[in-house]
This record gives sequence, C-alpha cells and structure tokens, in this order.
Amino acid sequence: MKLAIITGGSRGLGKSLVNRYMEAGSRVVEFSRRGTFDGSVHCDFSDPHNAPGIIDTTFRSLAKTDYSEIILINNAGIVNPIGPISEFEPNSRVDNININLISAITVSGLFIKHFQNHSGNKVLGSISSGAATRAKDSVADEILSKSPKNGSKVSLGD
Ligand SMILES: NC(=O)c1ccc[n+]([C@@H]2O[C@H](COP(=O)([O-])OP(=O)(O)OC[C@H]3O[C@@H](n4cnc5c(N)ncnc54)[C@H](OP(=O)(O)O)[C@@H]3O)[C@@H](O)[C@H]2O)c1
Repeated sequence: MKLAIITGGSRGLGKSLVNRYMEAGSRVVEFSRRGTFDGSVHCDFSDPHNAPGIIDTTFRSLAKTDYSEIILINNAGIVNPIGPISEFEPNSRVDNININLISAITVSGLFIKHFQNHSGNKVLGSISSGAATRAKDSVADEILSKSPKNGSKVSLGD
C-alpha cells in the first residue's frame, strides 16, 4: 500500500492530486480547513499554535502502518494579499507566510520525524510558484513565502 499526504487537498491543484492518488489505489490523507474526502483532516495552517499538534497526531497514527511508498506534497497556499508591500499593514502578511511557508516547514519536519525509519520509499515535494523567482510587486508576498521553498532541498539533508 502506498500513502499520499497532500496539504490543501480540498480544491484546486491539491484536489486533483488527491483524486489522482486515490484512483491509483493509494491511501490518501489531505490537510485543509474544508476538505470533504474520507481522508480529510481539518487543519488551519494560519494557526501555527494548533496546526502542528493536529499534524503530529495524524502522522503518529499513520506511521503505525508500513507502506511501500510515502509521498508528501506541500501544496496548500494562498496568494493574498496582492499588492505592493508598502500598501498593507505589517501583520497582514502573517497568514500568507504561515500558510505558504511555515506550514510546509512544519509538515516536512514532522513527516521526517515520523516516517524516516520506515523502509518504504519516501518522497517529499513542495509546490512553489513562478512568482518565487520573478520580482513583481503585485505578488510580493509570493516571492517572500515561496522562494525559500525553492531552496528547501538544501536544508532537508538526506
Ligand atoms: N493556480 C495557480 O495558477 C498557481 C500558480 C503558481 C503556484 N500555485 C501554487 O499551487 C498551490 C495550489 O494552488 P491552487 O490554485 O490549487 O489553490 P486553491 O485552489 O486556492 O487551493 C488552495 C488549497 O490550500 C488550502 N488552504 C488555504 N488556506 C489554508 C489554511 N489556512 N489552512 C489549511 N489549508 C489552507 C485550501 O483549503 P481550504 O480552503 O479548505 O482550507 C485549498 O485546498 C498553491 O501553493 C499555489 O501557491 C498556483
């Protein structure tokens, strides 16, 4: 049995990924606020105090089973607020950073903690954005919160 863990699987790209992995016969778990799949776990990544506990508990339970392959896709993300960073209150960027970046770091860390000793093949990926590398003030938040994902392979080690 293969296990696919997808963040932000309630709609959009994440929902398509959920459907593809389910069709392929994988066990699928997705984290979002409004997912309606059997494998949906409700979790608000804008809340960095409660989200880690929900993920930790879920991974602890999932890790009791052996899988031939375990894949994590950090997909959850938002684009707002859109506009030059000079035009918003400083705290208006916090949700964006928490959802786009901090959640991926947290989920990845807990994924490694709970599954690194499993014998199956492990795959970890994060959905970035073209905006991560193209400076454009209308999507400044995406540059700030997505570009570290492009370099995350460096900090994950082996
Ligand atoms: N669409 C594009 O053109 C495009 C381009 C470049 C990169 N991307 C990236 O691709 C990924 C998916 O994009 P998309 O267009 O499919 O997005 P989407 O349709 O808006 O879906 C976003 C997903 O993230 C989840 N999410 C949002 N806020 C959340 C929160 N506070 N806590 C937990 N989950 C949350 C949503 O679930 P709930 O609302 O149920 O919580 C939803 O499942 C994102 O990382 C995005 O940055 C997209």
